[in-house]
Amino acid sequence: MKREKDKIYVCSNCGYTSAKWFGRCPQCGEWNTAVEVEGAMKKAPSTVEFESSKSSIAVIERLKTNMHEMDRVLGGGLTPGSVVLVAGGPGIGKSTLLLQYASALAEKGSVYYISGEESVSQILTRVKRLKADKGTLFLSSSVEVDSVFSSIKKKPIAMVFDSIQTLHTSGMNALTGSVSQMRECTVKLVEYAKSTNTPIFIIGHITKIGNIAGPMVLEHMVDTVLYLEGEPRSGRRILRSIKNRFGPTDEIAVYEMNSNGMAEIPDPSRIFADMDSEEPGNALSVVVEGSRSLLVNVQTLATFNRRSSPIRIARGIENSRLLMLSALTSNYLGVHLENNDLYLNILGGLKVTDPAVDLAVVAALYSSSKKMHFPIKTVFVGEVGLDGRIRPVPQMKMRVSEAKRMGIKRIITSYYSKEKDTIGVKTVREAITKALAGDE
Ligand SMILES: Nc1ncnc2c1ncn2[C@@H]1O[C@H](COP(=O)(O)OP(=O)(O)OP(=O)(O)O)[C@@H](O)[C@H]1O
Ligand SMILES: [Mg+2]
Repeated sequence: MKREKDKIYVCSNCGYTSAKWFGRCPQCGEWNTAVEVEGAMKKAPSTVEFESSKSSIAVIERLKTNMHEMDRVLGGGLTPGSVVLVAGGPGIGKSTLLLQYASALAEKGSVYYISGEESVSQILTRVKRLKADKGTLFLSSSVEVDSVFSSIKKKPIAMVFDSIQTLHTSGMNALTGSVSQMRECTVKLVEYAKSTNTPIFIIGHITKIGNIAGPMVLEHMVDTVLYLEGEPRSGRRILRSIKNRFGPTDEIAVYEMNSNGMAEIPDPSRIFADMDSEEPGNALSVVVEGSRSLLVNVQTLATFNRRSSPIRIARGIENSRLLMLSALTSNYLGVHLENNDLYLNILGGLKVTDPAVDLAVVAALYSSSKKMHFPIKTVFVGEVGLDGRIRPVPQMKMRVSEAKRMGIKRIITSYYSKEKDTIGVKTVREAITKALAGDE
């Protein structure tokens, strides 16, 4: 008979674990969700072996493919033994992208693609359509983790599981797709990846609002988390690293999705910026995403509104950032945005978190409100404080060189960054005056 201490209880709703049975989960508050799991509490070994950092164990090389953008987002190739979660909304292109990448990897060795979402013949149809048949992929639509591992014949160089919501493991008595089932499967995938040095991709669905109880709970268990985002109606897709133990975060790759699959766009500045617009409401900036700088186009529209509460809608930056920057534009630049509806869009569907875009937002709001435009080929780079002063931002060298490469003539930025070939300003008022002054 199993002893009591060989058992643990897991909440089937949120994955909380406890050595004791519970009627109501102390973490999520749900009743009767405790599921008994046997053999999970293993006795710890009494000794451990330490490896010296000077040890001569060979450092394993990363796998690189001809999908350079994907390699870059992973931190310069795929690290052996790493577990990568690729999350995204329904129909955004997760399976397409991973099938293409699996195929690119398959030119170097055996790659296993396990899909509980589609039948093998459906995957094959997709393989043909995407021309993803250069190397040999081993396809299966099995959904049982342990049997997949025990059926492997040729040592894999990588594996893809599509998706975590369809997997289950016989050791866990919970519904497929439940948090506890996903967690237990992920534990097994991580164990396999680490013990055999096989990189594993896990695809996870998220809803539009990010579904906290979904794959998000797995984020801390995996090495790398990539998000595939984009407007479902447009073909543009952005793959972003949110977490990476083996590379920088916020690294992005840009794709165009068409009937042949995902096409890499190696020079995204060209699609994110309209360099020659002379319409009011436009301003350019250079933002840094991961290890790359990008020219972006901020567009705003300010329209008069007689109603008591004007609308403020931002796409591409946080709405609260638009509220703050519009308030300080009114305060320091003498324009009256209080009675205006304000709309802001970052061209190309990019989501910008870099505060360096602040100054361009202020400039675009000013331009829209005054119905004038700034001289073309001018960029605004700087974080703006509530006092209307411009703060320097890091990585100015990289920003300046990207701006120059794109043919930008004038870079308005913080006086304190003291960067060559820029126009240094201390306040938003000075920034607008110098930008309007044209060539100096
Ligand atoms: N035969 C086809 N020709 C052109 N585009 C196609 C074709 N089949 C599918 N697509 C495109 O691929 C998209 C689906 O991509 P994919 O299946 O990779 O997404 P996903 O994120 O894996 O979706 P899911 O959440 O359903 O698993 C569809 O929205 C469609 O635009
Ligand atoms: Mg899919």
